[in-house]
Amino acid sequence: MLVIDSVKLLQEHTNIWRRNGDTIAFVPTMGNLHEGHLKLVDAAGEQAGKVVCSIFVNPLQFAPGSDFESYPRTLQQDIEKLKAHRVDLLFCPSDKTIYPDGMAVSTKVTVPGLSDILCGASRPGHFDGVTTVVAKLFNLVQPDVAVFGEKDYQQLLIIKRMVDDLFFPVHIVGVETSRETSGLAMSSRNNYLSDNERQSASALYETLQWVAGQVKQQGEISAEGVNTLENDAIERLKDAGFKPDYVRICDAETLSSPNESSPIAANHRSLRVLAAAWLGKARLIDNVPDT
Ligand code: PAF
Repeated sequence: MLVIDSVKLLQEHTNIWRRNGDTIAFVPTMGNLHEGHLKLVDAAGEQAGKVVCSIFVNPLQFAPGSDFESYPRTLQQDIEKLKAHRVDLLFCPSDKTIYPDGMAVSTKVTVPGLSDILCGASRPGHFDGVTTVVAKLFNLVQPDVAVFGEKDYQQLLIIKRMVDDLFFPVHIVGVETSRETSGLAMSSRNNYLSDNERQSASALYETLQWVAGQVKQQGEISAEGVNTLENDAIERLKDAGFKPDYVRICDAETLSSPNESSPIAANHRSLRVLAAAWLGKARLIDNVPDT
């Protein structure tokens, strides 16, 4: 596995591969890799002849005063983990490479609407940071396929929308969330949990599954019924020690909430239940499909 921090070398290698007729699958990450990331890497290996992974803790997607400084950086361990999988090139650019003029970024990529709801409402600017860096990385790597986890479901939809709207010649593949045996979705931010918190943390997934089960059981639910279910879920999370941000039953494609004019009929509309909640110092997110 080549480990490279320069754009010039990255492009030298990827150009040779392309000239030889190889396709490229790309897995962008912020490092501190766990089993979930490695599943993305393996999925990438099934999609193309060459696999490129990146590790870049993107300052633009962190709000001032959030966990950018303390975000776990474990490059050597990450390299060892990737070496046990099929990765041809690991790109680890510096901040200066990605943002040569610093954080006063003049060109940004924004997907309005989808980026402003749910996690975007609690973390203003976060998704603009994500789409800007992903657009830069796509332009540098020029992959045929890029792989993202469904754990960040809103991020996955936003990136799909960006790719469609800007005609990026990249096929986006979503990979199912990897979970601990307790059901807790794997995330680098789980490192912020104490042992006790880690035990309570599975309540997030259990609550989402409970909501999805209720939706399925009820078949057709009014907007008011949706509201009641979301509020019940919030109470369940509070009982488990969480400080909930949101629990939402959404259209799986648009993330819109049902309203009086479009009640949910679970049998003919694809839904997704999404939640974000604080447990101690960790803001955990998770989501489940309606089946
Ligand atoms: O999901 C992540 O790890 C990040 O948001 C991403 C896509 C690598 C962009 O920095």
